[in-house]
Amino acid sequence: MADKDRLIIFDTTLRDGEQSPGASMTRDEKVRIARALEKMRVDVIEAGFPIASPGDFDAVRAVAETVTDSTVCGLARALDKDIDRAGEALKPARSARIHTFIATSPIHMKMKLRMAPEQVIEQAVHAVKRARRYTDDVEFSPEDAGRSEPDFLCRILEAVIDAGATTLNIPDTVGYNVPEQFGALIGELIERIPNADKAVFSVHCHNDLGLAVANSLSAVMNGARQVECTINGLGERAGNAALEEVVMAVRTRQDIFPCDTRLDTTQIVKASRLVSNITGFPVQPNKAIVGANAFAHESGIHQDGVLKSRETYEIMRAEDVGWSANRMVMGKHSGRNAFRTRMRELGVEFASEEELNEAFARFKELADKKHEIYDEDLQALVTEVSTETENERVKLVALRVCSETGEKPHASLTLNIDGEERQAEAIGGGPVDAAFRAIDEIVDCEAELLLYSVNNITSGTDSQGEVTVRLEKGGRIVNGQGSDTDIVIASAKAYINAINRMASADQRAHPQNADV
Ligand code: KIV
Ligand code: ZN
Repeated sequence: MADKDRLIIFDTTLRDGEQSPGASMTRDEKVRIARALEKMRVDVIEAGFPIASPGDFDAVRAVAETVTDSTVCGLARALDKDIDRAGEALKPARSARIHTFIATSPIHMKMKLRMAPEQVIEQAVHAVKRARRYTDDVEFSPEDAGRSEPDFLCRILEAVIDAGATTLNIPDTVGYNVPEQFGALIGELIERIPNADKAVFSVHCHNDLGLAVANSLSAVMNGARQVECTINGLGERAGNAALEEVVMAVRTRQDIFPCDTRLDTTQIVKASRLVSNITGFPVQPNKAIVGANAFAHESGIHQDGVLKSRETYEIMRAEDVGWSANRMVMGKHSGRNAFRTRMRELGVEFASEEELNEAFARFKELADKKHEIYDEDLQALVTEVSTETENERVKLVALRVCSETGEKPHASLTLNIDGEERQAEAIGGGPVDAAFRAIDEIVDCEAELLLYSVNNITSGTDSQGEVTVRLEKGGRIVNGQGSDTDIVIASAKAYINAINRMASADQRAHPQNADV
């Protein structure tokens, strides 16, 4: 990379990624993901939107306290109260960035902000100056830049650079742009803005037309030196540019890109699994880089070619992005120290001996049912512990389900609610339905079930089933997760987890909402 520029990777999984309906994360989950991003050597981690809720503030602060090798960023509208809140949340960070934004497209300025263009410039300049009171590292985004007038973008961007912005991020907020035109826009801005050399140009592309990665790469070819992206392409609506695709495209095509990232790409698959596990958003098998089939050769001709010389059909090496064969890491006889060490290697640090003991007890329980324990099993186990310990009003004590040909499945269960045991029975269309109905008999949280999905964590019939349940009530969407070698029990755990999360107080506001 000696004679190449650095391409800065700005990960917004914890902020824009969290805006995917149902992808909300707890503070501890955000810290776990932030650690994985830091280990991957991501340059900037956007940890959240501190003004959005006390929970988001706490999460940004916790990430700022934990991460030392990456810059930690907080989002703020171009408003004093947002910027002050972000500055406060980022105080413990070794390296902090404030990212402030205001809309610049004619439709957003007229219909949403109801402000004249001159007022928008004034507010942006004021916001950047205020953010500079907290840190020298200030990023400015003209929201909906992809539909803004280039002349106006040149004016506002020149003004915010003079005010102290060090990164200018050009978002295609609604995913409207196409590669050639978006790349040309970036090239034009860099050429026309007189003080462009005093800031790094960045892009933030949404995937509404499936073009987020292509648009980002086109921008890089035209001078952008920061890309905003998310693990697995998570994000608002159709998502953001997928980090793993941007990074591997640039790394694989060093023959054409004038820059490279400093990422440790071998951490990619691990981070992808962690995010999928925590958010409950499965990765499609044919997803580039991190899908289960991304390196699988099915056709005989391909297999033959790869066996003779892998370059015949492979442009990247699976191990370079962190794929390795399922490795049996632990078993029934593994001790507490081995467990703690392996967990540390997976990026999991236990906050207390009590937390370690609880996770270890669950590991032993699992090892009794399942002979070989893989990394994926361990990650699922930690997700379950971290989601349960925070908010456990309702706990599963016992569940018995009878399922027989020709008979309606019947479930009887015991729950512990705020320390008091309650029992219920129900029949249902299937064993999972019967179990959910029995839970509803005791705690009907009146939410609508939006999604129920089961995935096997590893292969084989003794694999744990990992269940995601998504509930919606009054516009609030939450995900619950559960895992067990018995998928009916995993389902009941996931449903109870979602019910507990629905009852939690933290309500996040959307960054584009003006009424926080
Ligand atoms: O998509 C967008 O415009 C954003 C901004 C806050 C950068 O997420
Ligand atoms: Zn966005």
